[in-house]
Amino acid sequence: MLEIRELRAGYGANLALHDVSLTVGQGRIACLIGSNGAGKSTTLRTVCGIVRARGGSVSLAGTRIDPFAPAKIVKAGLALVPEGRRVFGPLSVDENLQMGAYLSLRERKRQHYDERLAFVQRLFPRLLERSRQLAGTLSGGEQQMLAIGRALMSGPRVLLLDEPSMGLAPLVVRDIFATLASLRDDGMTILIAEQNARAGLSIADDAYVITEGRITRSGTAAQIMQDRTLADAYLGTQQAGSTARRRRTARDASGNPADDGAPVVHAS
Ligand SMILES: Nc1ncnc2c1ncn2[C@@H]1O[C@H](COP(=O)(O)OP(=O)(O)OP(=O)(O)O)[C@@H](O)[C@H]1O
Ligand SMILES: [Mg+2]
Repeated sequence: MLEIRELRAGYGANLALHDVSLTVGQGRIACLIGSNGAGKSTTLRTVCGIVRARGGSVSLAGTRIDPFAPAKIVKAGLALVPEGRRVFGPLSVDENLQMGAYLSLRERKRQHYDERLAFVQRLFPRLLERSRQLAGTLSGGEQQMLAIGRALMSGPRVLLLDEPSMGLAPLVVRDIFATLASLRDDGMTILIAEQNARAGLSIADDAYVITEGRITRSGTAAQIMQDRTLADAYLGTQQAGSTARRRRTARDASGNPADDGAPVVHAS
């Protein structure tokens, strides 16, 4: 369904992706694992057209989408849940969901909008309960639900999620990931970028490891989970894991507090 071939992309003179190839089959979840700065976000941003590809290709159900502008990529059926959620804090939950459907609203497809909203609210009943609440006053877990709901409002066939577990308590992550698994079971194709390999691999069918802009391992999630060298580096069985945890804590302090149910107010 989603096929990324020899993708190259970067910022200014620096190449962040050298040669990234991966595929996500229809109705499967693939997890892209990598440490800080490995190129996970750049991969997702390039697939969405936010960062322009400098080489290689991205195809969605056989159609090349890498030459398209971001809005056309959304129309083709791809939606991104960005790192750090990026909900619109001063807007209500419902207004945030509307932002995710702006393309169909612009084309006056009101019925389509109403159906998507009902679907998202069935998936996350919390978003219905809190429809008029300002997004900035939601807990971290609720904001993540909103970010996913907003992405689903465009009716995607492929959903990309950038570190959905970041800053959330394990129980909240489990809940949200169970919802992602149910979407997959209904046929959605999902690519998750995660530094939290344990969480990502727990629901993924397939996995890819990215290191300094290159895919260095791939296999089924079960195979990657059992790989000892990867376990040491990414599953926290040795020192590398505690380094990752320290970094995560530092970043959490800068804007993504752990989800203890308290409101999270973002500056952005
Ligand atoms: N906006 C930017 N401008 C310049 N360089 C960038 C930008 N964003 C990322 N980079 C660089 O590109 C490389 C890949 O970064 P990327 O954000 O894709 O990594 P990541 O795997 O998502 O890391 P993290 O776990 O920290 O989110 C890094 O060397 C990073 O410094
Ligand atoms: Mg990132």
